[in-house]
Amino acid sequence: MTDLRDDPLTDAGLVPVITMDRVDDAGLLAAALVEGGIPYAEVTFRTPAAPRVIDRMRSESPQMMVGAGTVLTVEQADRAVRAGAQYLVSPAFDTAVVSWGEERSVPIIPGVATATEVNTAWQRGLRTLKLFPVEQLGGVGLLQALRGPFPDIEFVPTGGITPHNLANYARQPNVVACGGSWIASREALSGRKFDDILAAAQEASKILRRAREQRSEAR
Ligand code: 3PG
Repeated sequence: MTDLRDDPLTDAGLVPVITMDRVDDAGLLAAALVEGGIPYAEVTFRTPAAPRVIDRMRSESPQMMVGAGTVLTVEQADRAVRAGAQYLVSPAFDTAVVSWGEERSVPIIPGVATATEVNTAWQRGLRTLKLFPVEQLGGVGLLQALRGPFPDIEFVPTGGITPHNLANYARQPNVVACGGSWIASREALSGRKFDDILAAAQEASKILRRAREQRSEAR
């Protein structure tokens, strides 16, 4: 069994959540993210193109860390890993998907929304969890509240994060990376607005750098 504490997002800070229809643009997207200083992606299984997008991003930008998102079933987990996904993310905690990842040493970041789900995951040895949908659940206040009983859990808060609240999330000591779709929204992707995506990545990189400096100063 893998040690699921090996965290694929350790240095990430921010993971763009990607929902993409056009496989042929995956290389352009990867290039914009890398140039913008965010060489990470969570490619959601919300479009049939997802496995081919993962494959294309990995082959065209091998320096990227590309995970699969919205992995709801074992079948999707299998297709994602075959396509080259380096880790799996789910919005929910599904024991079949988690066990599938554990048995194959594939890092899996399941979604949690309550202390009970965090505890279930913690008991299984998971240490990195997606907190979704974080803004609706209580935002930064929820992260701070969970840190007391679960000091060794690192969260990937996702859902409602924007350039306006990114710094506040990134400063939290129990946040390993923030997730969000605004860097490369479905609209920007379908409009092929790669300059906008690059600009959003560069802006987010700047916000993250400052927030991380503030976090280390506070330690
Ligand atoms: C996800 O799948 O992680 C969310 O849909 C991303 O949430 P956001 O669109 O509010 O960033």
